Amino acid sequence: MKPIHVGLLGLGTVGGGTLTVLTRNAEEITRRAGREIRVVRAAVRNLDKAKRTAGDLPLTTNPFDVVDDPAIDIVVELMGGLEPARELVMQAIANGKHVVTANKHLVAKHGNEIFAAAQAKGVMVAFEAAVAGGIPIIKALREGLTANRIEWLAGIINGTSNFILTEMRDKGAAFDDVLKEAQRLGYAEADPTFDIEGIDAAHKLTILSAIAFGIPMQFNRAYTEGISKLTREDVRYAEELGYRIKLLGIARRAEAGIELRVHPTLIPARRLIANVDGAMNAVLVKGDAVGPTLYYGAGAGAEPTASAVVADLVDVTRLHTADPHHRVPHLAFQPDRLAATPILPMDEVRTAYYLRLSAFDRPGVLADITRILADGDISIDAMVQKEPAEGEEQVDIILLTHVTVEKNVNAAISKIEALDTVVGQVMRIRLEELAAK
Ligand code: NDP
Ligand code: HSE
Repeated sequence: MKPIHVGLLGLGTVGGGTLTVLTRNAEEITRRAGREIRVVRAAVRNLDKAKRTAGDLPLTTNPFDVVDDPAIDIVVELMGGLEPARELVMQAIANGKHVVTANKHLVAKHGNEIFAAAQAKGVMVAFEAAVAGGIPIIKALREGLTANRIEWLAGIINGTSNFILTEMRDKGAAFDDVLKEAQRLGYAEADPTFDIEGIDAAHKLTILSAIAFGIPMQFNRAYTEGISKLTREDVRYAEELGYRIKLLGIARRAEAGIELRVHPTLIPARRLIANVDGAMNAVLVKGDAVGPTLYYGAGAGAEPTASAVVADLVDVTRLHTADPHHRVPHLAFQPDRLAATPILPMDEVRTAYYLRLSAFDRPGVLADITRILADGDISIDAMVQKEPAEGEEQVDIILLTHVTVEKNVNAAISKIEALDTVVGQVMRIRLEELAAK
């Protein structure tokens, strides 16, 4: 059978990794796909920079040369960003080409429009590399767990922030130094605030939630909080209490809607997912039939991400000649059967909390705080008062609460911060047990 022709948009970390893996494993990949997958052209901005990676591969600085090339069957978008990536993907689809992308920003923001266009044109858009790098989590959710009603999922889905948290905990490293190292290693986004402010994780969570629950992509409704305000003290106190802090993306079916939230989270240190370190990713999925399942692997980097890109290329190659109606739907559910389940406002989310505050070591302080919490229907699970540092009058107080409603905690925090005896702001970190039930 004649080779299937691929055009690359982008030949950077992931594009370069994809070319390397396709070349090195060409024979195995052809045996699996049933025909050769041949890259015939790549678009970049800087030709000189790309020459070494490209070898004999023809290059262009005009990405429309790739999407409009009649000889190309599959366009692989590995440029990143929204524009011109969106326009190029839409044009590739309009030209009847299949698309593979690692661009979670694009899929989370414009997935609904892209999938509708692909559906109408009868082409495939594959995006395994967009979530959790090399972990085949899209395939697991869309196909392997298809019998299940997914109850919740929770994932470490940003390698950069997990790398930063791990280095802060293990080496006491400074935030900015570790971020620079993550950039050097090719883990970080072009704009690293996407990593440290939870935006990249929210893009990925948006995609996972759509596939898990059969809902449209709703990035704008995701609650997003990153790791930039975490302190080394919080990381240490969490450890002392038997927890680890991870940036988690959580999607959960609640009675009134779906929780969709990214934020730093205390997790019991004994959970497997709490021990996922460095740039590794892991996603815990709870299905009603299978129970909890955990998927672990490299969440970023050239070849791990290329592993997912090439898997998509093989899938598309195998299904290229299949009747479009026999293909797996983009979002796992038939496009006309997506649900309108609302996303729950963050105020209505129920979870437990770690609260840290600094207060003067005087009689009655703890009584004031516990009264405020009790008035807000917030029950305390544990409380620790640290020794004051030498010559200091203030002490750190750490409270763990039982599960309660977010809006009650926010109201209580405002009242606690207004006490004369409390200094500065209360640090609030959500806490999840992630138990099997
Ligand atoms: P890089 O910055 O390393 O590479 C981007 C490539 O796209 C470069 O070759 C760049 O060319 C090219 N490019 C960008 N804009 C244009 C344009 N307008 N016209 C032509 N070429 C263009 O990015 P990554 O490889 O790290 O990321 C690519 C995508 O994969 C992103 O969506 C990212 O979020 C995603 N991703 C990245 C992972 C990682 O570990 N790095 C993991 C999972 C997903 P030039 O160099 O000449 O500017
Ligand atoms: N910047 C991303 C991360 C790349 O650190 O996880 C992988 O999507």
